[in-house]
Amino acid sequence: MATTSSFYGLCLVTLLIFVLGIVCPRAEARAFFVFGDSLVDNGNNNYLVTTARADSPPYGIDYPTHRPTGRFSNGLNMPDLISQRLGADPTLPYLSPELTGQRLLVGANFASAGIGILNDTGVQFVNIIRIPLQLEYFRQYQQRVSALIGAKQAQKLVNNALVLMTLGGNDFVNNYYLIPYSARSRQYALPNYVRLLISEYQKILMKLYKLGARRVLVTGTGPLGCVPAELAQRSQNGECAPELQQAAELFNPQLNQMLSNLNKKIGSHVFISVNSKKMHSDFISDPGAFGFVSAKIACCGQGPYNGLGLCTRMSNLCPNRELYAFWDPFHPSEKANKIIVQQMMTGSSDYMNPMNLSTILALDSQN
Ligand SMILES: *[C@@H]1O[C@H](CO)[C@@H](O)[C@H](O)[C@H]1NC(C)=O
Ligand SMILES: *[C@@H]1O[C@H](CO)[C@@H](O)[C@H](O)[C@H]1NC(C)=O
Repeated sequence: MATTSSFYGLCLVTLLIFVLGIVCPRAEARAFFVFGDSLVDNGNNNYLVTTARADSPPYGIDYPTHRPTGRFSNGLNMPDLISQRLGADPTLPYLSPELTGQRLLVGANFASAGIGILNDTGVQFVNIIRIPLQLEYFRQYQQRVSALIGAKQAQKLVNNALVLMTLGGNDFVNNYYLIPYSARSRQYALPNYVRLLISEYQKILMKLYKLGARRVLVTGTGPLGCVPAELAQRSQNGECAPELQQAAELFNPQLNQMLSNLNKKIGSHVFISVNSKKMHSDFISDPGAFGFVSAKIACCGQGPYNGLGLCTRMSNLCPNRELYAFWDPFHPSEKANKIIVQQMMTGSSDYMNPMNLSTILALDSQN
């Protein structure tokens, strides 16, 4: 009986929302905003003239539609899996024409494959949405939401939202280490380059804060030297490429420190440090424990470790994507993304500092 009446109650509410509620915010899920690079791009680059794209098969082979979407994954990516945890629809790319009306209230994904902390990272991809423009779009987004639900509600939606920021890997692989003797590597010794990145990153995060973000997951770089692309180009015997590993080892602790300093300055735990390197390193050092047959060979690609060139229709393709930690030469498989997001939810302070996502969700739901 109780179930029946609550079923009818739910139907009535749904009907009321349907009739009245074109502009009534969905109370059940908080908004979610995503900024950064290909690890978190849900398809913005589909709308740009750029070579950094994932809009042809076999990308998306395990996505619910089994079609490419622009995500650099065989299936779901990190933002999709976080959206699921929030009980929300996946974030639409900001450039998608479908991002209108009620759907704006879910949040938006501003990420663009190929970008970095620095404006000159990814210049070879020509037309990509660099961070200053991602932040400008976030400002535009807020104006559109204000027009829909009023300025006060819009600000509340933004202040209560969860934000994900994934940046930095490309400043190494698609800038400093892109070619031997790159302009950047001649200009800066690695420790000085890392300091430059951290200081520029801090400015970006403060701008995000000024735009209203109050809970921001900031991912460190993964073990950059261990991705199939770097194994193919730089590894002698399958060991992770030391120069890129060193870059990650310098960058991540300084990022962690910078975030903690920002939080002290602000007086609140706005920025949450996500230890991506540790999350990845767990399955790279013991793939079998996570059900992987390989954490060195990409599922889709060619050459040693399937690490050379792009993942295309012509590439080798593994039959079972669940068995590979890497989908393509740079990006984790859906299965690996699931492990990472699980660690974000429940990981100890070695993985999530100062707290994990389940703690954040519990805390914030009390407000
Ligand atoms: C990047 O470009 C933006 C404007 O497009 C500029 O405001 C910013 O200072 C630039 N950053 C660096 C590090 O040059
Ligand atoms: C992380 O999440 C789990 C499960 O909610 C919780 O028990 C744990 O204490 C949390 N925090 C840390 C720092 O481990």
